[in-house]
Amino acid sequence: MEKYAQLLADLAEAGGLGEEWRGAFERAPRSAFVPDTVWALDEDAPTGYRRITRADEPDEWWALVNANGVVVTQVDDGIEGGPGVATSSASMPSLVADMLRHLDVRDGHTVLDVGTGTGWTSALLCARLGDDQVTTVEVDAAVAAEAAVRLGAAGFSPKRVVGDGLAGWSYAAPYDRIHSTAAVRRVPCAWIEQTRPGGVIVTPWGTPYANAGLLRLVVGEPGEPSHGRFVGNVSFMWMRDQRPHPVTGPANTPDYQGPSSMDPDLALEDVNAAFAIGLRVPGVRYEHVWDEADPSGTYRMQLSDSAGSWASVRYARWDGEGAVHQSGPRRLWDEIASARLWWLEEGKPDLCRFGVAIGIDGAQSVWLDDPGNALP
Ligand SMILES: C[S@@+](CC[C@H](N)C(=O)[O-])C[C@H]1O[C@@H](n2cnc3c(N)ncnc32)[C@H](O)[C@@H]1O
Repeated sequence: MEKYAQLLADLAEAGGLGEEWRGAFERAPRSAFVPDTVWALDEDAPTGYRRITRADEPDEWWALVNANGVVVTQVDDGIEGGPGVATSSASMPSLVADMLRHLDVRDGHTVLDVGTGTGWTSALLCARLGDDQVTTVEVDAAVAAEAAVRLGAAGFSPKRVVGDGLAGWSYAAPYDRIHSTAAVRRVPCAWIEQTRPGGVIVTPWGTPYANAGLLRLVVGEPGEPSHGRFVGNVSFMWMRDQRPHPVTGPANTPDYQGPSSMDPDLALEDVNAAFAIGLRVPGVRYEHVWDEADPSGTYRMQLSDSAGSWASVRYARWDGEGAVHQSGPRRLWDEIASARLWWLEEGKPDLCRFGVAIGIDGAQSVWLDDPGNALP
């Protein structure tokens, strides 16, 4: 507990935890919500994660829980033998404080908290606003059940819903605020409909290429669009129904093979560039592949959309023959290279220069600097 107090003091000193939220963080310590079994990154584990239990490795458990880092609490939706994808967690404390600051709640506000997870953020909201003001929704029944136990034991009782948070929870609407801790690719219409005009939605927002934005959206007056800006760089696990497609490898002989016009390192070297590229190459996702026999010589970025186009680019000798393979209706690597050129021409905009508009028909568009400058 002492370490948690130190963590809060550090966050406060760095300006990341204001007085408004300090009391809530003290009354709802993260350790009261983290389950006894957590997962730590471990390069040597086959899935990349090692299971840690509070009973067997208390020092490791406490060190994770009281650090300013994410604590993974579920992998692969709780299904044994999966590839090792984090699917639930207690988010990084400094990030939680940041998101709550952007939420800008006032006494008396009602909040829908999407992605209950461990229950920690809903407890913080209850501590700040009161139990009756908070509704929290979690899609995973086992995760929700564990959170219910911990919330009860810690003395918090938000309205708890097990269901798809993309549909919001209309029975307690309208809300003054919606706070989501799972990333969306599109802001659901239900969230707009269930938020009061002038109300605020704070959610991680990303593209399959770069899951990197924190969006703060202000809901429009009836009949008016809603607008918001990206206010930070975050990376959250996806909302279940908005998870991007798996990257597919070469399914056929490439119909283009040749050198690359761009060093592939530049496609990811800067988070702002990656975010901008993701906006310009809709539906494209990547992963890295290599041949164990010659990792550095064969290291490639593999890209695919979900409609039959794929590309692959080699990092070593990227301007040499056979560095790029492409196939399908779209030339995905060419799209990435021209999207980066566009980012350079626009003056390397930081991701906080982008924003989102949501029309009354639910159509979502992204703009640069002001809503009149929508991206194609
Ligand atoms: C980063 S964790 C949430 C952290 C949580 N707020 C906390 O304080 O521990 C994201 C959670 O969102 C949940 N989730 C994913 N898709 C969802 C959906 N469609 N509706 C509701 N919850 C969802 C996941 O199961 C996971 O528990």
